[in-house]
Amino acid sequence: MDDLLAYRDRFPILGDCTYLINHSLAAMPAAAEARLLEYARMWRERGIRAWGEGWWEMPVTVGDQIGRIVGAPPGSTVMHQNVTIAEEIVLSCFRSPGARNRVVYEEANFPSVRYLYQAQPGLEVVTCASDEEIVDAIDERTLLVPISHVLFKNAEIQDVEPIVRRAHEAGAYVVLDCYQSAGVVPFDVTALDVDFACGGSVKWLCGGPGAGWLYVRPDLAERLEPTFVGWQGHARPFAFEPELEYAAGARRFLTGTPNVPALYAATAGYDVIEEVGVGRIRERSLVLTGLLLELLDAGGFEVGSPRAPERRGGTVLVRTPDNAAVHRELGERGIICDFRPDAGIRLGPHFYNSEDELRHTVSVLAEIVESGAYERHSGAAARF
Ligand SMILES: Cc1ncc(COP(=O)(O)O)c(C=O)c1O
Repeated sequence: MDDLLAYRDRFPILGDCTYLINHSLAAMPAAAEARLLEYARMWRERGIRAWGEGWWEMPVTVGDQIGRIVGAPPGSTVMHQNVTIAEEIVLSCFRSPGARNRVVYEEANFPSVRYLYQAQPGLEVVTCASDEEIVDAIDERTLLVPISHVLFKNAEIQDVEPIVRRAHEAGAYVVLDCYQSAGVVPFDVTALDVDFACGGSVKWLCGGPGAGWLYVRPDLAERLEPTFVGWQGHARPFAFEPELEYAAGARRFLTGTPNVPALYAATAGYDVIEEVGVGRIRERSLVLTGLLLELLDAGGFEVGSPRAPERRGGTVLVRTPDNAAVHRELGERGIICDFRPDAGIRLGPHFYNSEDELRHTVSVLAEIVESGAYERHSGAAARF
């Protein structure tokens, strides 16, 4: 697995600091800079012709690359700006839900997902404490079940299959937020039989901001009619017809002009993830998170994320006496991570991190806590 360390040269920031924040904003591949220059060159030299030379199709061609990573067939995944928009497009297919107006979700869903469903006037939200509770809460009044594959706060992998089984039995649809799994935990949306899946690119996919994605199960994509739609979702967008006629497949889930520069940048990340392979990344991730657990145990720290490999995502959560202050001190010593105020410090190694970086991190953490060096930051506010 040491051969994965050869990839470090492709991620310039790794030479400057100990970068353990891949669950939030993974390291930028140097190739992203070249891609953005290519985008600028196209704009400068090709002007309007660039639309016909790839730009217009990018939400679908880049979506197909995501599809290869998450097990979605070609033509079933399209690119958007973020998860909020992807889930709003899903919601827009069900504007008049009638008696089937319940959304059953887990309280550990990411806030933007929670807020979006809470804000819908016609829907009743049922909040569950765990993936098991979700299975029990689904009934014939349930319309949508938006869940996270890996929880953002403590990186717990959720048991998706029983939820999908129960949802389909009851006639409900599952929306799987894969933001914290895509690129670090292997999965296959087709095998999972989820109805919708979505995610973004800033985390383990190393793709940077502005490149969210939405997968729609192919048979559903032919039937559903999103009401949040734009001209890219029309069967013949360049006919500029006065009436809406949906495009076939996942294209009908598009809106307007795509976020072209973000899609250029993002493919640099997807390329390296495809090249390494999520299976190899997962093997390496389990080794690194396993080592972190050992080191933290030896240092007498309390760990707040799952230990069992089948429940363990890419991040290890460690509790400290003052997460905000300890985080600030770690940052000043060149160790880049983050914290959630009521949870702990999140350490998220990716395939390019080394064992030595983890040993160094835990030894600095122990020194900061034992010496009380963090206390000078007490009262530090939450930030990135
Ligand atoms: C599980 C999960 N979902 C969604 C998001 C972000 O949502 P959005 O793309 O709407 O910013 C994050 C993190 O930023 C996340 O961890």
